[in-house]
Amino acid sequence: MNKENRNTIKVIDCQVLAHYQFEGDQYILTLSSEIIANETKPGQFVHISVSDILPMRRPISIMSVDKENATFDLLYKVVGEGTKQLAERKVGDVISVIGPIGNGFEMTENKRPLLIGGGVGMPPMVAIAQSVKDTDYQPFAILGSEVPFPFDEQVAKDGKDYQGATRTMPELEDWGVECRLASLQGYQGVFKGYVTDLAKVYLDGLSADELSQVEIYSCGPHPMLDAVAKLAKDYNLPCQVSLEENMACAVGGCAGCVVEVQTDSGPAMKRVCVDGPVFDASTVF
Ligand SMILES: Cc1cc2nc3c(=O)[nH]c(=O)nc-3n(C[C@H](O)[C@H](O)[C@H](O)COP(=O)(O)OP(=O)(O)OC[C@H]3O[C@@H](n4cnc5c(N)ncnc54)[C@H](O)[C@@H]3O)c2cc1C
Ligand code: FES
Repeated sequence: MNKENRNTIKVIDCQVLAHYQFEGDQYILTLSSEIIANETKPGQFVHISVSDILPMRRPISIMSVDKENATFDLLYKVVGEGTKQLAERKVGDVISVIGPIGNGFEMTENKRPLLIGGGVGMPPMVAIAQSVKDTDYQPFAILGSEVPFPFDEQVAKDGKDYQGATRTMPELEDWGVECRLASLQGYQGVFKGYVTDLAKVYLDGLSADELSQVEIYSCGPHPMLDAVAKLAKDYNLPCQVSLEENMACAVGGCAGCVVEVQTDSGPAMKRVCVDGPVFDASTVF
């Protein structure tokens, strides 16, 4: 059953097609939906019903879509009761989602998106990579995690070593999107440091002309986004960030997710769910 809501947001019943657990209480959930697979823009999310017991849905970003098979993937980490109950959903279960929700990332004429994702902020970066993989854009993705990565990292075929970073996410490698991993944990083939430190290594290796084409896109915990916004300012680069605030309704009705945003006419309160979750970094940090 699909019910239109606010013209673009729909309530959709999706079947669980796959549900894999990874170390660090991380899960990848594959759900069926032709609508989400075909209509999602990178940076949008679904508001998902986690169980029959908890009435309040939880917002989760759409990581990737498969238009041919009418499916989409979510990557989430168990942090509380809602995500714990979601982790118990089995293949064959039907889950209600509202989506796709939010204003996603704007892909501008810049030809070099620098994607920086941390923890459960990785999925929107994967979504951008998927959306530009067959275009002239030459993205570089940096994914950071302080628990084992929720995929089997592999050595990048291009053989480039960014100060110890040689490994990548297999899906991005298949799409021809250059990617490297960062962590403080000292994982093999992974840059030892913050995602922003690895971003500096990448940016410092570009010519002035290449650097002028870079735009940063990011999602992750607030301290990381703060550091990414500062990096963008230091290198004088445009930067869009996706915020992951707590949400109640997720469709613009409760004002439970408002943040202060700088606008041309001064500070304004904006709802992350429908005015965002993507904002210009300079307006929120
Ligand atoms: C746009 C967006 C995209 C996101 N994408 C991802 C993603 O891709 N992957 C991912 O892992 N996470 C993502 N998150 C974060 C994810 O939504 C949270 O981790 C998740 O909501 C946690 O739910 P929980 O119940 O497990 O945790 P909790 O911390 O227990 O609860 C989460 C929120 O629900 C409230 N709440 C819980 N119970 C009640 C109650 N009984 N009454 C009222 N309020 C209650 C809490 O106060 C809190 O605000 C995203 C968040 C946003 C906003
Ligand atoms: S969560 Fe209700 S307005 Fe955003």
